[in-house]
Amino acid sequence: MDYQSIIEEVYQEVQQENQRGKVANYIPELAHVNPDQFGIALVDLQGNVFAVGDSQIPFSIQSISKVHTLTMVFPKFDPQLWSRVNVEPSGNPFNSIAQLEYEKGIPRNPFINAGALVIADALCSKYDHPTEQILEFINEIAGKNSVSINSAVKNSEKNHGERNTALAYFLKSYKNFDNPVDQVLEVYFSHCAMEMTCEDLARSFSFLANDGYSIFGERKILSESHARRINALMLTCGFYDEAGEFAYRVGLPGKSGVGGGVAAVMPHKFSIAVWCPELNEKGNSVKAIRALELLTDKLSFSLF
Ligand code: DON
Repeated sequence: MDYQSIIEEVYQEVQQENQRGKVANYIPELAHVNPDQFGIALVDLQGNVFAVGDSQIPFSIQSISKVHTLTMVFPKFDPQLWSRVNVEPSGNPFNSIAQLEYEKGIPRNPFINAGALVIADALCSKYDHPTEQILEFINEIAGKNSVSINSAVKNSEKNHGERNTALAYFLKSYKNFDNPVDQVLEVYFSHCAMEMTCEDLARSFSFLANDGYSIFGERKILSESHARRINALMLTCGFYDEAGEFAYRVGLPGKSGVGGGVAAVMPHKFSIAVWCPELNEKGNSVKAIRALELLTDKLSFSLF
């Protein structure tokens, strides 16, 4: 399969169409990013990297990091974790407060903000230095040492973090939160503020295409069954109230972030990261989704 030619074709077509959106500005620091950047990196199971465009520029991975934190918590807490957070699509915006109330403090899934806060709380219970250990883990599975936290982005979100703070206290009121709210929010804002290039992000997702084994970390990260379940969660919940649309148009498990990144996997074939900062009204990258739609059309395969 000539992945390099295919992603170059995809890149050209997306650039020609030039569909636009809006850069996230509710985290003020993210609003400063150049909206014209666009990169793609695909990593096959042998570790070959195929890349085009701005694939070597670090960007804020935001909610994509929720896949990494879930991976760190899942084997340690399965199955008890699933009494604290559900595995159903939310059909609601990622930061909905109303839904958390009518679901009685049990978030719909680990990728909406409330669910990811429960995961961050579980991380704080299990790891002595959660933020450092998340970074170590991601650098390990990306096979790099270059992933870092952008403290301006972290502080920017922290200073405008009323909604996540509200969600965390709400979870605590339902006794679904074990650690101090401030401590967990610090970990959550830190992992959302991690910066990675498309190449490193695709490398860090490679184990999910490879039955849980990371060729870069040279070890089994998750059992095959846990890896399959994370892929199932990405397919059904990775794009919040646009998860159905992403499954329909692209047909791969994937996860988006408001920094404009999308990471996706084709099990047993490849992992891929696409980045372009402009978002649609659901908070997902317009060009990244379009690129992945063209990719699976050109490949003539997806999960389906
Ligand atoms: O908590 C937030 O709102 C952000 N740190 C992450 C949200 C996000 O990336 C949603 N994804 N599309």
